[in-house]
Amino acid sequence: MPSRSISVHLPFVVALDGPAGAGKSTIAKNLANEINVAYIDSGSIYRTLTYIGLTTFQSIEGFEDQIAAIFNTNLEALRIIYTNQQQEIYWNNTLLGEELHSLALTKQIKWVANHAACRDIVNQKIRHIALTYPVVIDGRDIGSIVFPNTPYKFYLDASLEERTRRRAAEKNIAENTEAFFDLQNNIAQRDHTDQTRSIAPLKQADDAVYLDTSSLSINQVVQSLVASIIQKQKD
Ligand code: C5P
Repeated sequence: MPSRSISVHLPFVVALDGPAGAGKSTIAKNLANEINVAYIDSGSIYRTLTYIGLTTFQSIEGFEDQIAAIFNTNLEALRIIYTNQQQEIYWNNTLLGEELHSLALTKQIKWVANHAACRDIVNQKIRHIALTYPVVIDGRDIGSIVFPNTPYKFYLDASLEERTRRRAAEKNIAENTEAFFDLQNNIAQRDHTDQTRSIAPLKQADDAVYLDTSSLSINQVVQSLVASIIQKQKD
């Protein structure tokens, strides 16, 4: 097994960045399992800020400072823990799950994602976890901004069509239906917003390895990442 050849000494951060639906979270989970490290889904922390903002103010735009203040005055109420390598997020002892993934919420994330104080909250949490655990982290700016010094940076990409197909399968949406094309528009819009925002836009770090996953299986991608990490450790 190649994973036996990977040596894991803190800090150990594998950054997996890329657009929505590129397979990052599935790949990240499988890779974390394979090399026996924790997995951080940074998007779910942005989702948590958005969720708390929506439940508190019913809107995000214009409330970003207040949302950051809620978290900054009670940062320990946001807990990210690992059970069998699965990430769980708690806010004030409530476990958050599916409520973080509605389309309505997803459309509002852009406001917290483009707000420096909100991004700082997410980055503080992630950096703190990485002090204690070796981690695979998926996101948009992990290799470019959050951990610019990690040697293990990957940018996972896939065609818009393939990314829509994957997301549709997760959500049980049939291909080429109205819901399918809505999803495709939503993904394309989100890519555009993530790539063009003023703070920490989605982009490939100069030293990241680019991988188009459109025609690769999950296992092929994971094995390619493992091989690349082993190679970097030998260099
Ligand atoms: O990964 P996921 O689709 O759950 O991310 C939701 C949103 O959170 C992204 O579209 C992006 O706006 C934001 N995000 C970010 N930086 C990250 C992770 C997610 O801005 N590192």
